[in-house]
Amino acid sequence: MKKYISGLAVAAALTTISTAALAETTVGLLLPKSGVFAALGNEIDDGFVFALEEAGRADDIKIVREDTEVKPPVGLAKARKLVLQDEVDVIVGVVSSGVLGAMRDFIHEAEVPLIVSNAGNDAATGAACSPYITRVSFSNGQVNRPMGQWMHDQGIQKVYTLASDYAAGHQMIDNFTAAFTEAGGEIIGSEYTPFGQTKDFGPYLTNARAANPDAIFVFYAGGEAISFVKQYGSFGMAADVPLFGSGFLTSPLYVAAEGDAAVGVKTSLHYVPTLDTPENNAFVAAFKERFGRTPSEYAVQGYDSARVLLGALDSGATDRKSIAAALPKVSYTGPRGPLEIDPATNNVVQNIYIYETVKDGDALTQKVVGVVEGVRDAPNGCALQ
Ligand code: PHB
Repeated sequence: MKKYISGLAVAAALTTISTAALAETTVGLLLPKSGVFAALGNEIDDGFVFALEEAGRADDIKIVREDTEVKPPVGLAKARKLVLQDEVDVIVGVVSSGVLGAMRDFIHEAEVPLIVSNAGNDAATGAACSPYITRVSFSNGQVNRPMGQWMHDQGIQKVYTLASDYAAGHQMIDNFTAAFTEAGGEIIGSEYTPFGQTKDFGPYLTNARAANPDAIFVFYAGGEAISFVKQYGSFGMAADVPLFGSGFLTSPLYVAAEGDAAVGVKTSLHYVPTLDTPENNAFVAAFKERFGRTPSEYAVQGYDSARVLLGALDSGATDRKSIAAALPKVSYTGPRGPLEIDPATNNVVQNIYIYETVKDGDALTQKVVGVVEGVRDAPNGCALQ
């Protein structure tokens, strides 16, 4: 914000810099640029920049980028640097639930608005919620709960679960498990695999198959999703043990690397690029034109982070406190459908799509097979209102 520059300095800058606009707002873009989620971070970054360009606002926003490396202590140190040294007005980003958990108290105490553009950590909009944390991506519970009822409705009774052993893996499985058992299903086995380190999923797949479930339900994302789906395919399990999971498993960002092993996998997510709405068709066409590829959910999360930020600035917010207060008031219908922020938790309210990965010629695409509209988390210990 200009508040960091004296009036005189602004006048001097405006007379000397006539061509370049003076950035109005400084954003700390805190994403993984290395490690198991690097591709996700780059895709969120592209979506964020794309929304600023589309709105003609790229010159209004100064971006300072930092790499979390998907490591909680690194993420916290970078958040401190962005706030204390770079004096950013707002932090945008965070992919890992573990990194978000490590940063939460610092963000709350420093009173700096954080727009979460991925990390689904349920606590951040539950018991550990904060007026300074607004999430435009999803919560881990929100994405997975609808799948419990849906799978049971398909006649699936016995499920075995697998996930990465860190906050997000546990929360995704816990929420799926609660919904599936409530619907009448049974979890007959569950394992967690070392996060970011598991190369060979063979022993876990062997145990899962030996339990003889009707299906397996998993959470893997990024590089781990690619390895897992390929190994599931080479085990030849698809015929007897169908694969279900959180939709990140077969994200359009990397499903091509999974190849035919992804065909027939059914998952749930808050966005797929095949949604046939005017807003999404326009978004997909423009993103393709700009980047030469189909946008994934991560691109949309970056895009919506920028749109929500611009909405808050356009409503007159000028400093950290007023930006934090204005963010949850922004709502619109965008690529993923209607988007609003629940003022009770500051978590996004949105549709959840159940989709099957299918072949389209040589390529893989997403066929929507179910929609649960307007999914909203219970306050879960949050008392913002
Ligand atoms: C998370 O850690 O919250 C997380 C990471 C990657 C995803 C989804 C959730 O694709």
